[in-house]
Amino acid sequence: MKTLCFLPLLATAVVGQSASNCRCLYNDPCWPSEDEFSQLQSNLSQPLIRPVPPASPCYPADDPSGNCTEVLQNAGDGRWLADQAGAMQSMNYQSFILPNGTIEACYVNASLGFPCEQGSIPPIGVDALSAEDIQAAVAFASQHNLRVVIKNTGHDLLGRSMARDAFMIWTHHLKNITYNPAFVPEGAPENETYDALTLQAGVQWFEAYDAAEANGRMLIGGVTNGGSVGSAGGWLLGGGHSAFSPQHGLGVDNVVQFTVVVASGEHLTANAHINPDLFWALRGGGGGTYGVVTSVTYRTHEVTPVISVLVNFNFSSPAVVTDVLSELFRIWPNLSDAAWGGYTITTRSTYTGIYVAPNMSLADVNATISPFFQFVQQTAGPANSSTSLTEFDGFFPWYQVLFGAEPSFAPNVFNREVVSRLYPREVLEDHERLAAAVANFTDQITIPHVAGAAVSKVDPDAMGLNPAWRSAMIHMVARANWADGLTADEIHSIEDRLRDELAVMEGLNPGGGAYLNEASLYELDFQKTFFGDHYERLESIKATYDPKDLFIVAEGVGSERWDASLNCKV
Ligand SMILES: Cc1cc2nc3c(=O)[nH]c(=O)nc-3n(C[C@H](O)[C@H](O)[C@H](O)COP(=O)(O)OP(=O)(O)OC[C@H]3O[C@@H](n4cnc5c(N)ncnc54)[C@H](O)[C@@H]3O)c2cc1C
Ligand SMILES: *[C@@H]1O[C@H](CO)[C@@H](O)[C@H](O)[C@H]1NC(C)=O
Ligand SMILES: *[C@@H]1O[C@H](CO)[C@@H](O)[C@H](O)[C@H]1NC(C)=O
Ligand SMILES: *[C@@H]1O[C@H](CO)[C@@H](O)[C@H](O)[C@H]1NC(C)=O
Ligand SMILES: *[C@@H]1O[C@H](CO)[C@@H](O)[C@H](O)[C@H]1NC(C)=O
Ligand SMILES: *[C@@H]1O[C@H](CO)[C@@H](O)[C@H](O)[C@H]1NC(C)=O
Ligand SMILES: *[C@@H]1O[C@H](CO)[C@@H](O)[C@H](O)[C@H]1NC(C)=O
Ligand SMILES: *[C@@H]1O[C@H](CO)[C@@H](O)[C@H](O)[C@H]1NC(C)=O
Ligand SMILES: *[C@@H]1O[C@H](CO)[C@@H](O)[C@H](O)[C@H]1NC(C)=O
Ligand SMILES: *[C@@H]1O[C@H](CO)[C@@H](O)[C@H](O)[C@H]1NC(C)=O
Ligand SMILES: *[C@@H]1O[C@H](CO)[C@@H](O)[C@H](O)[C@H]1NC(C)=O
Ligand SMILES: *[C@@H]1O[C@H](CO)[C@@H](O)[C@H](O)[C@H]1NC(C)=O
Ligand SMILES: *[C@@H]1O[C@H](CO)[C@@H](O)[C@H](O)[C@H]1NC(C)=O
Repeated sequence: MKTLCFLPLLATAVVGQSASNCRCLYNDPCWPSEDEFSQLQSNLSQPLIRPVPPASPCYPADDPSGNCTEVLQNAGDGRWLADQAGAMQSMNYQSFILPNGTIEACYVNASLGFPCEQGSIPPIGVDALSAEDIQAAVAFASQHNLRVVIKNTGHDLLGRSMARDAFMIWTHHLKNITYNPAFVPEGAPENETYDALTLQAGVQWFEAYDAAEANGRMLIGGVTNGGSVGSAGGWLLGGGHSAFSPQHGLGVDNVVQFTVVVASGEHLTANAHINPDLFWALRGGGGGTYGVVTSVTYRTHEVTPVISVLVNFNFSSPAVVTDVLSELFRIWPNLSDAAWGGYTITTRSTYTGIYVAPNMSLADVNATISPFFQFVQQTAGPANSSTSLTEFDGFFPWYQVLFGAEPSFAPNVFNREVVSRLYPREVLEDHERLAAAVANFTDQITIPHVAGAAVSKVDPDAMGLNPAWRSAMIHMVARANWADGLTADEIHSIEDRLRDELAVMEGLNPGGGAYLNEASLYELDFQKTFFGDHYERLESIKATYDPKDLFIVAEGVGSERWDASLNCKV
C-alpha cells in the first residue's frame, strides 16, 4: 500500500520499492485497522492510549465536558502537563497551522470562540510500562511504516515530542529507581564500580532528586520549578545542563550506562564496554534519534555545601543593566574557573541573578562577590536592588528553597519558542559589547552559566555531544511567549523577531555552536551548529542502529533526508 505524497520526485524514487517513501499517517488508507490495533493491544501490558488536548474538558465552551476549573488551575504546572499524554509544556506545539493559515488548536481559554481540535497531537499510542511494551510498539510502528513520536514529559522546546497523525510511544510511566553504591556496568571488570542511581525513562528530576537525597547523594540534573523535566529522556540525550555542571559536568558526563530499544526491536545495553559506538552517540546525539531509551544509570556525587548568591534589581534605563552585565561578564571567567554556576535572567526592566558557589566557605564567597554587590547597589540604586548570600548544606535544600514549587499561574505563557547560542571565554572578554547586545534584546534573555570548569575538562571527542560545549563558558537563550488565539500572521511576526535575535546572537560569535535542546527551528545549518564536526560519525552510527530512519526528529541527525513535515523522504 502507498500513502499520498505530493512530491514530484516520488514517482521515480519509488520504482522497484514496495514501501512508500512517505510515512503512513492517520486517515491514510494504509493506517492500521482497529483489528490490527487490537492485535497490538494483546501484546501490551496497558490499554492503548488516545491522547487528547489538556484543555479538552473545557469544551464545548457553553457546556464543558469535564472539569475546566482543574484545567485553569493547573495549565501552568509542569508536572500536571507532563502527566498528560496530549500535553506539551509549550502548547503551541500541540496545535497545527494549515497551509491557508487556519490554526487547529485547543486553547485553554475556551471563551476565545475557537473549537477544540487535535492539532499535532498523535491520535493513538502506547503507554509503556516495560521494555517489552516498547519492543511491541517499535515492531508495530516499523511494520506499518508509522511516523513514530517518543514522548516523555513534553518539555521539548522545538516540539519534537509531538507530530500530527503519528503514533506515540509514551515513556512517562516508566518510574522505577534503583540505587546501587557499587554498580558495575555490564561487561566491565568487577572492580569498575560506581556509586550510581538507575532511573527508568519516565523518571522526572523531582523524583530523581528525592531518591538521591534519600541515599545521601547528589545528582547532576535539570534545575527548573517543580523539577518536571525528564531525567532520562531528551534532557540527557541532548546534553543536559545544570548550575552544578561546572562542578561535576553535564548530564552526559555523568551517565555510565543506557538500556535502549533500537529499531530492530532488540533491547540493548550501551556503555563503555558494550555497544560503545551507541553509547558515544546517545551522549549528546539528541533525543528521538537512536532508539527508545528505557533506563539510564548515573554516577552520584558526595553532598557538598552550596553558597547561594542572589542579585535582583529593577531599572528604567538600559544603561543600568548594560553596566551591570558588563561587570558580570568581566568577572565571570574567574568565577567560572572556580566552578561557579547559575542563571542570569533579564527583561526590559528586571535583572535576576541566581548563582551558586559549590563547596566553598561563606567567607571566601563573600570576599569574592562583595565588590560586585557594591557595583550593583551603586549602579541600580540601593532602593531598587537586593543582594544576598545564603549557606545551604547541599544541593537538595538549595533546590527545594529556590525551585521546589511550580511557578504561580500565568495565563499568558502557554505558547513559547526560543533561540540560543553557546559562547566561549573570548566572547566574554569583549564584555562591553556582549552586555550592550544582551540589554538590547526585546525578548527575555536567560543566561545559564552552566559550562566551563568541569565541562571544559572532558575530551571534546569522548562522546557525540557538540564539541562547542567544551569551550563554552555560558549559554544564552532568548524566549518569546504569547497568549492563546493569535493569528498565524501574528505568530509569524513573533518568529521573525526571534530570527532577528538569533542573527544578533550568531553575529557575536560567527560559526559558534548551540545547545540542541534549547534552540529554534530556524537554524540554517543545524548539523554544524548542534553537532559540529561530530555530525558525520553520528550519522554513521545512526545508519548502524536505525538504518530505515524509524526515529527522526526536527533538526535531528538524519532529518535532512526528510521533508519539512518529516513524513516523506526527499
Ligand atoms: C520549563 C523547562 C525547563 C528546562 N530546564 C532545563 C534545564 O535545567 N537544563 C537543560 O539542559 N534543559 C532544560 N530544558 C530543556 C530540556 O532539556 C528539553 O526540553 C528536553 O527536550 C526535555 O526532555 P524530556 O524528555 O523531558 O521531554 P520530551 O519533550 O518528552 O522529549 C524531548 C525529546 O527527547 C525524545 N525522548 C524523550 N524520551 C526519550 C527516550 N526515552 N528515548 C529516546 N528519545 C526520547 C523525544 O522524542 C523528544 O525528541 C528545559 C525545558 C523547559 C520547557
Ligand atoms: C505480537 O507479538 C508477537 C510475538 O512477539 C509478534 O509475532 C506479533 O507480530 C505481535 N503482533 C503485533 C500486532 O504487534
Ligand atoms: C474540579 O477540580 C477542582 C480543582 O482541581 C477540584 O477542587 C474540584 O473538586 C473538581 N470538581 C469536580 C466536580 O470534580
Ligand atoms: C483552510 O483549510 C481547511 C482545510 O482544508 C478548511 O477546512 C478551512 O475552511 C480553510 N480556511 C479558510 C479560511 O480558507
Ligand atoms: C479569554 O478570552 C476572553 C475573550 O477574548 C477574554 O475576555 C478573557 O480575558 C480571556 N481570559 C484570559 C484568562 O486570558
Ligand atoms: C523496580 O525496582 C525494584 C526495586 O529496586 C526492583 O525490585 C524491580 O525489579 C524493578 N523493576 C523493573 C521492571 O526494573
Ligand atoms: C581493576 O583491576 C585491574 C587488574 O587488577 C587493574 O589493572 C585496574 O587498574 C583496576 N581498575 C580499577 C578501576 O580499579
Ligand atoms: C582573575 O584572577 C586573576 C588571577 O587570580 C587575577 O589576576 C585577575 O585580576 C582576576 N580578574 C578579575 C576580573 O577579577
Ligand atoms: C570539597 O572540599 C573539601 C575540602 O576542601 C574536599 O576535601 C572535597 O574533596 C571537596 N569535594 C568535592 C566534591 O569537590
Ligand atoms: C561580606 O563582606 C563585606 C565586605 O567585606 C562585609 O561587610 C560583610 O560583613 C561580609 N558578610 C559576611 C556574611 O561575611
Ligand atoms: C530606581 O527606581 C525608581 C522607581 O522606578 C526610578 O525612578 C529610578 O530611576 C531607579 N534608579 C535607578 C538608578 O535606576
Ligand atoms: C522590582 O519591582 C517589583 C515590582 O514592582 C518588586 O516586587 C520588586 O521587589 C522590585 N525588586 C527590587 C530588588 O527592588
Ligand atoms: C538594538 O536593537 C535594534 C532593533 O531592535 C537595532 O535596530 C539596533 O541596532 C540595536 N542596537 C544595538 C546597539 O545593538
